[in-house]
Amino acid sequence: MNFYLPVTLYAEEHCVRTHQKELAALGTKALLVTGRRSARLNGSLADVTEALDSCGVSCALFDEIEENPSIETVMKARDRGLAEGVDFVVGIGGGSPMDAAKAIALMIRHGREDASYLYRAGADSSALPVAAVPTTCGTGSEVTPYAILTIHEKRTKSSISHRIFPALALLDPRYLLTAPASVLCDTAVDAFGHLAESWFNANATDYSRMCTRQGLEIWSRSRAALEGISGAAGLTPETISGAAGLTPETCLNLLNASAMAGMAISHTGTSLPHGLSYYLTYEAGVPHGKAVGYFLAGYLREAPADERDAFLKIAGFSGLRQWEEFYAQVCRPQPASPDILEQAVRGLMQNPAKLKNSPWPASEAMLRRICR
Ligand SMILES: [Fe+2]
Repeated sequence: MNFYLPVTLYAEEHCVRTHQKELAALGTKALLVTGRRSARLNGSLADVTEALDSCGVSCALFDEIEENPSIETVMKARDRGLAEGVDFVVGIGGGSPMDAAKAIALMIRHGREDASYLYRAGADSSALPVAAVPTTCGTGSEVTPYAILTIHEKRTKSSISHRIFPALALLDPRYLLTAPASVLCDTAVDAFGHLAESWFNANATDYSRMCTRQGLEIWSRSRAALEGISGAAGLTPETISGAAGLTPETCLNLLNASAMAGMAISHTGTSLPHGLSYYLTYEAGVPHGKAVGYFLAGYLREAPADERDAFLKIAGFSGLRQWEEFYAQVCRPQPASPDILEQAVRGLMQNPAKLKNSPWPASEAMLRRICR
């Protein structure tokens, strides 16, 4: 057994400002990596900019990270970072900007390498320091070493071959309040998926389950709130979460659960639902958390009933049926096309690294059952 998590984490309101000296200590000039809109809307970009400014550290902005970022976007940001002479990277947003920030930090450090370096196993993984400021509550990227990128050549997504932990994670629940309810529900289901896939995982240990169990217990405290923002009369998935009644306290629970789930998968990896979900996201544009959730009931059905029920009980579910009802309510999934599911099964069967994380011998027949 081992436990390694070299991330300094703060989780509290206004933590960017409170811990600005630690952020500024990462270097002399930062590349801020964000998507196009949300980091501006929720105030996180302004907080980071002001924090660095007040410490005399300059920054450049790359705000073109798309959902499920591509290798091409990472290389474009790398070029910007090299031209600006930055020496650390701050990822602000959901999993996409934070994952991209790690890959960009790697490629700036290895400025003469081409994009193939991202997936060169065994190569030097040193990177510029990375700070992460999450504004959704699912990925856990702020504490994981993973950076999932879209590989158009393979029509799927995959983590780069390098493990890059952020040096600093700053979790401010206020940023979640301006996210659409659908985004928080999708990302909270992603966090639940990390917890389930880490618990039922060939690499699970007492240490990883320490994170899983506590993450699940904290996640359960926000379950009713998620049902509330997704199902109350007059609310739509586009309703802003704060306006739908979500409180900073609930958001902090969601962030902490997400981070603990991230700590768990840092040690175990994810398993079959994530491996299958990437095809649903790539081919049908299904958001990540919703796509993961699509396969979770099938995955949990493979577990021994007593273990599955004990796991679900920690999250406050009476059984698998209640989890399925919850998922249907908060994510509103559509049936996936048989062609995409077939592609997912065949694709995942070619991915031994993901298959070996399953605690049960993974077969094509099992994957088909999970897809049903
Ligand atoms: Fe995920």
